[in-house]
Amino acid sequence: METRFEKKLLCIGAGYVGGPTMAMIAYKCPQYKITVIDINHKRIAEWNSDNLPIYEPGLDEIVKAARGRNLFFSTDVDKAIKESDIIFVSVNTPTKTFGVGAGMAADLQYWEKTARHILQCAESPKIIVEKSTLPVKTALAMERILTSNNNKIHFEVLSNPEFLAEGTAINDLENPDRVLIGSRQTESGIKARDELVEIYANWINKQRIITSDIWSSELSKIVSNAFLAQRISSINSISALCEKTDADINDVARAVGFDSRIGMKFLNASIGFGGSCFKKDILNLVYLCRYYGLNEVADYWDSVVKINDFQKERFVINMLTAMFNTLVNKKICLWGFAFKANTGDTRESPAIYIAKRLIEEKAELVITDPKALERARIDLQNIDANVKYVEDPYEAASGSYAIAIMTEWDLYKNLNYEKIYNSMIKPAFFFDGRNIVDHQRLFEIGFNVFPIGKPALTHF
Ligand code: NAD
Ligand code: UGA
Repeated sequence: METRFEKKLLCIGAGYVGGPTMAMIAYKCPQYKITVIDINHKRIAEWNSDNLPIYEPGLDEIVKAARGRNLFFSTDVDKAIKESDIIFVSVNTPTKTFGVGAGMAADLQYWEKTARHILQCAESPKIIVEKSTLPVKTALAMERILTSNNNKIHFEVLSNPEFLAEGTAINDLENPDRVLIGSRQTESGIKARDELVEIYANWINKQRIITSDIWSSELSKIVSNAFLAQRISSINSISALCEKTDADINDVARAVGFDSRIGMKFLNASIGFGGSCFKKDILNLVYLCRYYGLNEVADYWDSVVKINDFQKERFVINMLTAMFNTLVNKKICLWGFAFKANTGDTRESPAIYIAKRLIEEKAELVITDPKALERARIDLQNIDANVKYVEDPYEAASGSYAIAIMTEWDLYKNLNYEKIYNSMIKPAFFFDGRNIVDHQRLFEIGFNVFPIGKPALTHF
C-alpha cells in the first residue's frame, strides 16, 4: 500500500554515494518510501541481489533490513520521477575529457540530462537536492533548465553535498560531523530546506545540521576536499625532506598534530592520495579560479595535485634506485590496489600509476588485494601481459625481489614475515608505501626496508 508512506524520496544515481546514502535514510526512516534508480541496469540488478555492486563495511546489513520494506532499486525512471516529492541527484560528475576545460572542469552532461529528464516527467511540485559535488553556481543552471518551458510546476533546488568517505561510509552517514543544506533565502527555499532538515533530524542531532545559502554550500564541499587533500600533500612534501635529513615523518606528524589547532587526523604520509574525488574536485576549483581571473589562487591549489604526482613518482624512483637501477624481469609484488583500505574501489588509486611505471621499467608484477583484484584487472587491461593477479599475499610474494605496500589493509600488518622473507629472492626489498608494518622487525628478519619519510633500514 503506497499510502502508508509519509513522503516519497527518489535518488537518481545508484553509485557509491546514492546507494549507501539512500539505504541509510531508508533504514532510519521506515515512514518514507525511497526509490533509487540508475541508467546502469546491471548496477540496479546487483543492488537487488545478495552481491551488492560496492563493498562497504556494514552496507549489506542496512540494505537487507530496508530493501523491499521501504527501499527499492529500479530502472523505471519516469514512474519514479512522477511519484516522488523529493529527488536527490547523485550522478557522477567526472573531469571533462574533451573541449573547453578538458582535464580540469567538471563534466556536467549527466547532471544536465537528469535535470531535463525531471522536467519532462514531473507532474507535481518537487524539491530537487544536489547530492553530487558540483561547481559553485550549478544550482542556477538546474533552476534555469527546470523553469525553461514555463510550466506551472514549482521546483525548489537545494544543495546537500555528501561528505562520506569510502570504507567508513556507513559510520559517516550514521554519525556525520555535519550535514550541510544550502537553499535560496526565499520563503519557498527556506520551507524546502526545513523539510530536508526534518528528514535528517530523524537520526541526527539538529546542531549538526547546518544551513547556508546555496552557493556557499556548493563551494564548501569542494573546499572541504581541497583542504583534506592539502593536508596529505603537506605531510607528503615533508616526507621527502625527512628522507633527506634522517628525520622521521611519524614523529614530525605527531609533534605537529598535538597542536590542537592543527590536529592529528589526515597526517599519514603515503604514496599519495587517490579516490574519485580529491583530484577531480581540486582541478575543478583550479579551473573555477582561473575562470574568474584568480591565477594566484589557482596556482596555490594546483600545487596540491602537483605534490601528489611528485609523491607517486618519487616512490617509483626510490624503488628503482634501491634495486640497483634496474627492474627488468624482476618479480615485484604489489600489496593492495584499492585507493584506501576497506573498499574495492580503485578509482585514481596511486597503485595504478605505480603499476604502470613499473611495467614501463619491464618489471613482472604480481598484484594482490582482498577486494580490488577485479578492478585491478580492468585498470591494467591491455598492458598486463607481465602481470599476475593473486588472492593470497604469501603466494603473491613467493619468488619476488620486492614487496611494495600500496593499500593500508589491516591484513598486511600481521603476516608471518619470516615465512615471506624465506620465500623471496635475496636481497629482499620491502617498500612500505603506507608505513603500516613494524620496520625494525622486518629489518631484523633480513629485509631491506624502505618506509615513507623515514631513514631506510638496509643491510648493505
Ligand atoms: P558513481 O559513478 O559511483 O555513481 C554515479 C551513478 O550515476 C552511476 O551508477 C551512473 O550510471 C549513474 N547515472 C549517471 N547518469 C545518470 C542518469 N542520467 N540517470 C540515472 N543514473 C545516472 O559516482 P559516486 O562515487 O557515487 O559519485 C557521485 C557524486 O557524488 C559525484 O559528484 C562525486 O563527486 C560525489 N561524491 C562522491 C563520494 C564518494 O565517496 N565516491 C563522496 C562524496 C561525494
Ligand atoms: C574523501 C573525503 O574524505 C570525504 O569527506 C569526501 O566526501 C569524499 O572524498 C568525496 O568527496 O569523494 P575518500 O576519497 O573516500 O573521501 O577517502 P579518504 O579517506 O579521504 O582518502 C582519500 C585518499 O587519501 C586515499 O587514497 C587515502 O589513502 C589518502 N590518505 C588519507 C592519505 O594518504 N593520508 C591520510 O592521512 C589520509
